[in-house]
Amino acid sequence: MWLNLRALEERLETRFVGRRVIYLTSTSSTQDVARAEAEADAPDGTAVIAEEQTKGRGRFGRSWVSPSGANLYFTLIMRPEARRARSLGMVAPLAVAEAVEQVTGLSPRIKWPNDVIVEGRKLAGVLIETEVQGQSLKYALVGPGVNVNFDIEDTSEIVGIATSLKRELGRETSREELLAALLNRFETLYEGGASVDIVGQWRSRLETLGQQVKVTFRDQVEEGVAEDVDAQGNLILSRSDGSRVVVEAGEVTLRG
Ligand code: BTN
Repeated sequence: MWLNLRALEERLETRFVGRRVIYLTSTSSTQDVARAEAEADAPDGTAVIAEEQTKGRGRFGRSWVSPSGANLYFTLIMRPEARRARSLGMVAPLAVAEAVEQVTGLSPRIKWPNDVIVEGRKLAGVLIETEVQGQSLKYALVGPGVNVNFDIEDTSEIVGIATSLKRELGRETSREELLAALLNRFETLYEGGASVDIVGQWRSRLETLGQQVKVTFRDQVEEGVAEDVDAQGNLILSRSDGSRVVVEAGEVTLRG
């Protein structure tokens, strides 16, 4: 069944996030539509939502499996002030994890920096792309993909590493309820300012801390124990020789 936009709106408690919706039954990638809309001056908080993506993409140029009518694929066009921009990488996965917990009772964890996992398998990912003009940020495209009512067994290439709410719960979840909860949480965290401890909440869900990991970024590889994160969300690794390195971005794999 396709998304019921009225049911979504009825549950929305936001001031601006998701108040303008561009809804598509099929598109290449919501990131691409959002970029064109952002260039055409779409308002802050606009949500581009698709039922299906034919070229859904993930981090590191990977593809994101996006079958029709089952999951959540959307991109938020955000126009943050500089001091808020960095928090988006923590706010987005945290909003996904908290919304899933609120709606289903599951307690998702986060794999640094922004994969949402349940029982070690990936439930959701977030792609964040930014457009910079001179020294300032023009806009950020915050794109979560959440596996909701997806029969993951049908997709052999991800069956061992990914999961869906349907697989975890053995039943379907209302996408409208989950999306509304997610947008509500997202705005609350984003606007929370000093009253919300984003780093603390995000850190407390991080599965990665204390593990022996390998972090790959561009062609660089760093190995060590994931000791902590700093206030910007960077990962602090402690190498075997006792030295420390701060990693700003990258992909974590467990060191085998
Ligand atoms: C990742 O974990 O690598 C990030 C996956 C992000 C997928 C979402 S689905 C909605 C938005 N549109 C895309 O093409 N990608 C993101």
